[in-house]
Amino acid sequence: MAIRNLIDFGDVSREDWDALYANACKIMDHPEQYTDVCRGRISCNLFYEPSTRTNFSFQTAMLRLGGNVFGFADPSSSSVAKGESLKDTVKMVSGYADVIVIRHPREGAARAASLYSDVPVINAGDGSHMHPTQTTADLTTILRLHGTVDGLAVGLCGDLRNGRTVHSLIKALAKFDGVRFFLISPRELSLPDYMRRFMQKNNLPFVEVKGLEAVIPQLDVLYMTRIQQERFADPLEYERNKGIYILTTNIMRRARENLLVMHPLPRVDEIADDVDNDPRAVYFQQARFGMFARMALLMDLARQPRRPQHFLLSDEGPVCRNPNCITQTELYLPPLTKDSDSGPCCGYCDKEINGPDHASE
Ligand code: NCD
Repeated sequence: MAIRNLIDFGDVSREDWDALYANACKIMDHPEQYTDVCRGRISCNLFYEPSTRTNFSFQTAMLRLGGNVFGFADPSSSSVAKGESLKDTVKMVSGYADVIVIRHPREGAARAASLYSDVPVINAGDGSHMHPTQTTADLTTILRLHGTVDGLAVGLCGDLRNGRTVHSLIKALAKFDGVRFFLISPRELSLPDYMRRFMQKNNLPFVEVKGLEAVIPQLDVLYMTRIQQERFADPLEYERNKGIYILTTNIMRRARENLLVMHPLPRVDEIADDVDNDPRAVYFQQARFGMFARMALLMDLARQPRRPQHFLLSDEGPVCRNPNCITQTELYLPPLTKDSDSGPCCGYCDKEINGPDHASE
């Protein structure tokens, strides 16, 4: 693969993905041939935010490749609690490890970490922004179980505003042909503006609807998501939206026979427990596929040579005003901008520097 860090699935070319998937399949089919490929390699897992699947699957992926893992799952047990900056933590652990896996509540944190790391950085979730390795699990599931991604009708349902797995998945599906999107959410939890712009720019056909029942018969994939309670600034807004979608066996009667019901998990109440018995419910398989996809990723990134980085300190350039951006708390970060059709965007969190994203989210 040509990538150094996995921060945003948009940075992964179709060829990179095809190579990664081919390796994930080889590992799934012949795991015994891969038990030593990361022998002597060490992953550092920095989880500044709760995780079960992502952290465990990264750990087991590395262990199954013969490597080792250290890190924290609770920053209060590390020097972060003493006020250590992200930059210092990353610089230091990149001296100990061969790859860094980071999850952080702030948008753009993984991009920030990659500026200071001598070893590859993998984004395991940055706030409401992106979660590209969940996408490797999702694409592997669709390809293994449906055989193709091209031409599928994909329903994304739930909290599309705060659900980072949805944002990364859309970026990935844009690399295939003819995918049609059904964006199923209440208006106040609809896609953020930067993702809407991405879909428009890439000519991805989408319809936005509130009701699940009416569209479920048209879908090949239904991707359910949790309403992300921890991301709501206004608790009343969460109260208004919690429990809004519940997929039941009754609703499943309307769906195609070969529908895949997916979910990044954890589920709260958006899929009734008895749907688990329906063979179309594949979310636990999806979690297992994620481990193999992460093995393929680690096999590549954890074996890359070290590249010493120098601290970047600069205050030139426009400052991002998104209150959830990593630049709001890690004040030494150099301003990064990228161009979009509607003006400059923050290179960490993708929000428009002068745009409506800040006011509305
Ligand atoms: C997701 C996440 O952390 O964004 N979980 C996961 O990594 N499998 C989804 C969620 O928390 O709702």
